[in-house]
Amino acid sequence: MDVTTLILGAGAAGLMCAARAGPGTLLIDHARAPGEKIRISGGGRCNFTNLHTGPENFLSQNPHFCKSALKRYSQWDFIELVDRHGIAWHEKTLGQLFCDGKSTQIVEMLLAEMRAAGAELWLGTSVIGVRHDGSRFSVVLERDGQRTAVTARNLVLASGGKSIPKMGATGFAYDLARQFGLKLVEPRPALVPLTLGGEEVLFRDISGVSAPVVTSAGKARFAEAALFTHRGLSGPAILQASSYWRPGEPLFIDFLPEESGDFLLQAKRETPRATLRGWLRDRLPARLADILAERLGLEVEFGNAPDKALRAVAERLKRWTFQPNGTEGYAKAEVTVGGIATAELSSKTMAAKRVPGLYAIGEAVDVTGWLGGYNFQWAWASAFACAQAL
Ligand code: FDA
Repeated sequence: MDVTTLILGAGAAGLMCAARAGPGTLLIDHARAPGEKIRISGGGRCNFTNLHTGPENFLSQNPHFCKSALKRYSQWDFIELVDRHGIAWHEKTLGQLFCDGKSTQIVEMLLAEMRAAGAELWLGTSVIGVRHDGSRFSVVLERDGQRTAVTARNLVLASGGKSIPKMGATGFAYDLARQFGLKLVEPRPALVPLTLGGEEVLFRDISGVSAPVVTSAGKARFAEAALFTHRGLSGPAILQASSYWRPGEPLFIDFLPEESGDFLLQAKRETPRATLRGWLRDRLPARLADILAERLGLEVEFGNAPDKALRAVAERLKRWTFQPNGTEGYAKAEVTVGGIATAELSSKTMAAKRVPGLYAIGEAVDVTGWLGGYNFQWAWASAFACAQAL
């Protein structure tokens, strides 16, 4: 069988690419259903894009790489597509757009677009081997125990990252990229809960407590909710920071983002009879206030506390240092940071510079979005850029 384009992976990027590439395109996936991550995303309502999408919302070794694709297929283009299909949506928070109904509407929309474009989809199909003779790819596929040899001028790697292996995620795109000599940026789990060990396991006692905080890891800062869990830290603020966090590094939390300056000295003047525990309980969930007060060990009333001690306590509350001992890994990671090095690809077309006809799109590439619809926007935009070039 001969096709113009063979796309490996019918997830967000593969479906969009097939929908825009049109006739002569074969899209395959080893899963029994397409777009499974779209289906489960956003709690079943799919956070399909973000109103504020811009290059600054992405991590990559080359922060400029995503610019061209994001500009040529923006959040407004995807919203226009969603509107054209009559899918109702709403903004939840921070520009995050969700379906009013089910996320499967987005999968159905992409499948309808793909069928209208004349592309073909094979599910339950595995790749047995790939060869390239310099101008065409020869790929052996296996479906229902039957092997088919397919030749294609273009081969698009759209099989995503390693997150959630239980849902069929594999390192397949990385293996193929390696086979063709493309460099990788070391993949690691991102948008993932962090685990605490040592003395910090005490925080497990407040599992289930959440509070609005500001987290910082490296140069990144996120003002969202943090959640304490039975293994450590989660919640949007932590997931966001996890993409920037490296093993061995600290993670900082500002538990009192509303407070600034010498706020405890002011409290001493205004409420000298107050205790730290009581004062914190007025501002934070009680269990969190208690554990922080316990660890800070300031037992006396503010009026009897030296200014120096109050300043030191205030500083710790504004920059609490956690020393996570790891992440919950790919099993719990929403995305994979790293992947096929952008230096190997054209930012205009996603084509591999050194292998004619080879392309990589979506999460397989070393472009990773923040939490909040950015990863799907990258999948749509990179797929569109690629499809234009096929
Ligand atoms: P994607 O993972 O979608 O697709 C890859 C496809 O390749 C899969 O269908 C897989 O079966 C197939 N495949 C893998 N290996 C293969 C092999 N060896 N042979 C054949 N096929 C193979 N993002 C966002 O913007 N908003 C959100 O609300 C969410 N929510 C969310 C929730 C959860 C639980 C997760 C895990 C992730 C999210 N994300 C998200 C992230 C988002 O789902 C992700 O970034 C995109 O789906 C990436 O799109 P891709 O097409 O690149 O990969």
